[in-house]
Amino acid sequence: MCGIVGYIGPREAYPIVVKGLERLEYRGYDSAGIVLYDGKNAQLCKTKGKVADLKAKAENENITKGNIGLGHTRWATHGVPNDVNAHPHYSNSGDLVIIHNGIIENYGSIKTALEKRGYTFQSDTDTEVLVNLIEYIKNKEEVKLGKAVQIALNQVIGAYAIAVFDRTKPDEIVAAKLGSPLAIGIGEDEFFIASDASPFIEFTNNAIYLEDEQMAIIKLGRDVKIREIKNDKPVAPFVHELQLNLEQIEKNGYDHFMLKEIHEQPEAIKDTYRGRLRINEGIIKMAGIEDNLEKILKAKRIIIVACGTSWHAGLVAEYIFEDLVRIPVEVEYASEFRYRNPVITSEDVVIAISQSGETADTLAAIKLAKQHGAFVFGVCNVVGSSIARESHAGAYTHAGPEIGVASTKAFTTQITVLTLIALKLAQSKGMISKTDFHKYLAEMEAIPAKVEESLKVDDHIKYISSVYKDSPNFLYLGRGYNFPVALEGALKLKEISYIHAEGYPAAEMKHGPIALIDEQMPVVVIATKKGHYEKVVSNIQEIKSRKGKIIGIVTKGDTEVKSMADYVIEVPETIEGLTPLLTTIPLQLLSYHIAVMRGCNVDQPRNLAKSVTVE
Ligand code: M6R
Repeated sequence: MCGIVGYIGPREAYPIVVKGLERLEYRGYDSAGIVLYDGKNAQLCKTKGKVADLKAKAENENITKGNIGLGHTRWATHGVPNDVNAHPHYSNSGDLVIIHNGIIENYGSIKTALEKRGYTFQSDTDTEVLVNLIEYIKNKEEVKLGKAVQIALNQVIGAYAIAVFDRTKPDEIVAAKLGSPLAIGIGEDEFFIASDASPFIEFTNNAIYLEDEQMAIIKLGRDVKIREIKNDKPVAPFVHELQLNLEQIEKNGYDHFMLKEIHEQPEAIKDTYRGRLRINEGIIKMAGIEDNLEKILKAKRIIIVACGTSWHAGLVAEYIFEDLVRIPVEVEYASEFRYRNPVITSEDVVIAISQSGETADTLAAIKLAKQHGAFVFGVCNVVGSSIARESHAGAYTHAGPEIGVASTKAFTTQITVLTLIALKLAQSKGMISKTDFHKYLAEMEAIPAKVEESLKVDDHIKYISSVYKDSPNFLYLGRGYNFPVALEGALKLKEISYIHAEGYPAAEMKHGPIALIDEQMPVVVIATKKGHYEKVVSNIQEIKSRKGKIIGIVTKGDTEVKSMADYVIEVPETIEGLTPLLTTIPLQLLSYHIAVMRGCNVDQPRNLAKSVTVE
């Protein structure tokens, strides 16, 4: 969590760093800060609140000048969000200043040791301890900043992406990474540092992504030197050519990133299957699967590890894989899997699903699976992310940047790619007839247009939202492939509107939750024609007879549920395995509109951050 930005070069750093922080605000937004060096003085400004608050304060205090700048937007781990705990942090002498994304786990013992040597601390943060450790080493060993950072990082346990500046030697920034992402933009005589490439996309297409346990010494007007932190060996930098463009990271007329990303789904799904789904040849082309086909098909078991929305996509995949490929699947919360001594063997294939590719628990689950000899296949959106790099093979979702904290297009594109994998395996294993395979491919190709159609009933969904926006509770029910969609619908509502919501398999109602039903309780029921329709209709009757309010997600033209429900939202017909790609859309819109109507900050819901890089 947290976003960091740095600039060193001939331009004014302030607008670059502040704009960069705005773009990284999805990573944390409880406090923000900036430090600028103008050739003589370093000036610091930090505040509780969002980047907009920082901007107002910095401009009011005239802290806007300098060619070297570091900025930070925070998601608090150590210490409450306030002005003092906000980054950047100075060392005791005031010479060094640091920004940090991550957690220093052994900061307590380091702090005690430093206090014994006379160091004092203003904040409750682990970061202030780190900058003082660097200073202590720099003075004691009489070494340059880069060497002091290297020695210090070999003493800390935890995760970090840091940038450090020394005002007594103001021609360099030292950056380092372990477990948290860090990109370095390479311009002409100028360099950028950021948690992802979005802060510098309009300035350069060239970026170095630091690997774990690497540090960079970035010299003003000169070059970037990369070294390994453990053994201080130089590393030849690999410069990536970025595929990002400005349009992808701006709202483009939408009120919120979430709404933009909901509407991007038809294109995002197409991007996911483009080049892979080849109807005319009757094949699915996926190099990551083809290169490892034998290993995957021989798997005794597939274990899916993920968190949050990606875990829900994993649950959908469980249905698809067991249905089509007939390999047993277990879907695990990465956070539980990593700590419960799971039975993993070299005959298991582990699929790790993550939009960001940086989720700490998922990353740890992968490492554990690898230690036990399992083959790890990553499904990520962010190219070059830690999970993508840590996996033996993988497939990207190609959804484009997802900035809204609530995952939308990540979910549908994950389901798309997982379906393609299942179909590819089913075909290779001879588990699916040519006709059914072709039917699936044709239907998959038709999905973007059907998502588009599902988006058109937005006004109707808005109206339903206005009816139920003040309900304190919601239930979401679904069966089969649509049970995970019910979970996802409930998660979307609670995370952005702060309404309590639960997702349940519809038939589980009578084992407890039905006691909650009264005339105040809106129940969103996914009741599409394909997928246990009659059973779900019976569940709707049970709710109705207890006076619950029904919002049905139904197949276009349905009359039966319509006659029982308070409201229905129609989606086009498709084959059962692909219904989640359509039934998800109205649930995303419902949560979006309710959150907006309740005055919630949709893109930056309280207490959350986009990528959860702490455990
Ligand atoms: O980047 P990841 O897919 O690994 O993230 C997993 C979850 O943190 C994420 O899906 C989270 O639950 C979203 N806020 C849900 O909208």
